[in-house]
Amino acid sequence: MNNTAVTSTTMHEVPLMESAPGPEVIIDGRSYHYFGGTSYYGLHGHPEVIAAGCEGFQRYGFHTATSRAGFGNSAPLLEVERRAAEHAGREAGFYFSSGYASNHVLIHLVLKPGAIFIDEAAHFCVMEAAHLPAAPIHRFHSRDAADLQAKIEAYLPPGTSPLVMSDGVVPATGQLPPLDDYVGVLARYAPATLLVDDAHGLGVLGDHGRGSLEHLGLEDAANGGISNNGVSILCGGTLGKAMGGFGGIVTGSTTFMQLVRSSSHYYDGASAPPSPVATATAKALELIAGNPSFREDLRRNTLHLRRGLRELGLSAHDVPSAQVGVAIGNAVNMARLHQELRSQGFLVPVTSYAGTGPEGIMRFAVCSAHTPQVIDDLLSSLRGLL
Ligand SMILES: Cc1ncc(COP(=O)(O)O)c(C=O)c1O
Repeated sequence: MNNTAVTSTTMHEVPLMESAPGPEVIIDGRSYHYFGGTSYYGLHGHPEVIAAGCEGFQRYGFHTATSRAGFGNSAPLLEVERRAAEHAGREAGFYFSSGYASNHVLIHLVLKPGAIFIDEAAHFCVMEAAHLPAAPIHRFHSRDAADLQAKIEAYLPPGTSPLVMSDGVVPATGQLPPLDDYVGVLARYAPATLLVDDAHGLGVLGDHGRGSLEHLGLEDAANGGISNNGVSILCGGTLGKAMGGFGGIVTGSTTFMQLVRSSSHYYDGASAPPSPVATATAKALELIAGNPSFREDLRRNTLHLRRGLRELGLSAHDVPSAQVGVAIGNAVNMARLHQELRSQGFLVPVTSYAGTGPEGIMRFAVCSAHTPQVIDDLLSSLRGLL
């Protein structure tokens, strides 16, 4: 370790990551089995991804310092869009600098909602985007279609259309909202819109890893698809988690993507994603496309971890999302578990996230490259500490 790293770790209370993310990381000078972060295939540290990023830097410099509508387009950006669309089984894509902005990018397509209904555990960026249309916002109980129905009944002004906003996977807990039931409720109030942030579903859920909508059989109706019940579905995500890259992504039909690009100012008013970031991201997408075994390994590890946590008496639902948030007693107990696991070489964050409440949550994120042995070791350490 060089002197700069030593100085900076001793000067900061916030942990400092000193390696690429993956099943093992170095944080504050110590090596850990890593069950934090969301690089579900560990691709952010993959040598081919790193090499592609370096080549991008050499050829294109840091970034274009202009928007996509100016001179900010480059071949790597178009390659990311092509590969992301191919992954999604769609015609086209729009790649922009942040998944946090995906709801912001999409919400401008919703014409005059009479009221907005939002899952109370939705991510911060979903909550913030809900303020863009001038419409009243009502929260419904997390993952509760009956409460959604009751709130719409109580608060939707007559003759207007509802907009429902939700994550595809609850970011704090990994639970799956019943988006299909939401569509069923919304069909009674058509025309209506469901806007989904699939940051944690993209790359993980569904037979092809296309996300929550594939998992629930809803993808044909999304992003310019045909809806036969008057419910439009809009869905965006990030390439910065499972997909091993960086930046926000929306995919859909060519016509739909033209609408997306022209309805907000991300295309002409924001810096394009840096080209070296795009070369690395395109390489990660290529690796995912060429290695279906990544998904099988992730699925195996997800089931293993979730089953093991349940056997310890913790509430880890039997769902295929790759992160599991569990409240284990109070904040003091979780801080103790975090520290003791850490002293045994396992890093599991306790995080205060959208929808967790003040005590926070222990958030286990599994990666396709964890070995079954390491997962067993984590579970056995946890058993000794509970
Ligand atoms: C649900 C959700 N949406 C969006 C984001 C942000 O995506 P990005 O990091 O690409 O800006 C996150 C990141 O934690 C998230 O959990």
